[in-house]
Amino acid sequence: MNEVNEKNIVDKVRDFVEEECKKPTSKYGYEPFENHFKPVVQYAILLANKFGVDRELVEISAWLHDIGSIIYGRENHHITGCEIAEKKLMEFNYPKEKIELVKKCIFNHRGSKGHNLDTLEEKIIVDADSLANFDNVEGILKAAFLYENLNQLEARKSIFKKLTNKYNQLSFDYSKDIIKPKYDAVVLLFGGNEK
Ligand SMILES: [Fe+2]
Repeated sequence: MNEVNEKNIVDKVRDFVEEECKKPTSKYGYEPFENHFKPVVQYAILLANKFGVDRELVEISAWLHDIGSIIYGRENHHITGCEIAEKKLMEFNYPKEKIELVKKCIFNHRGSKGHNLDTLEEKIIVDADSLANFDNVEGILKAAFLYENLNQLEARKSIFKKLTNKYNQLSFDYSKDIIKPKYDAVVLLFGGNEK
């Protein structure tokens, strides 16, 4: 294989995730690739640059963080995601110690699981995941109506609560600064009488 023409590891990982999203078996169809994975990666790069960590590793973790959810469904996707990531990254000859850190990022990315975040890389993935939600309010609405069967009032309250929790749980003040205008808009549009 000509080294110049060989795809870099981040492209290989992104292509793998896109292929999985395109499959008819993908649990949430192709939409998450454009509407969730891409913005998470963009925010993860922004934070990786800001905090001077291994950008490649953070990008790979961002692409893979929800892969378990795509292939097997949401339940335990932090665990299934680790297994899938380990297998794929070994196939791509990614260094073993870096694979372990990617797995830590995937395992601990679910705020609702209350895991401790030890490393900057883990905090970056969790913050990027939360920030991306603010760019896809329509996706949260879709989930509320379609998957959770909420009525309009319940959906409005649910969005407000979800995004308020996401905002309050951000690790970095830098993340809060980035998203503050959008969070203010959430309060204005969905805050109702609770604001
Ligand atoms: Fe996510």
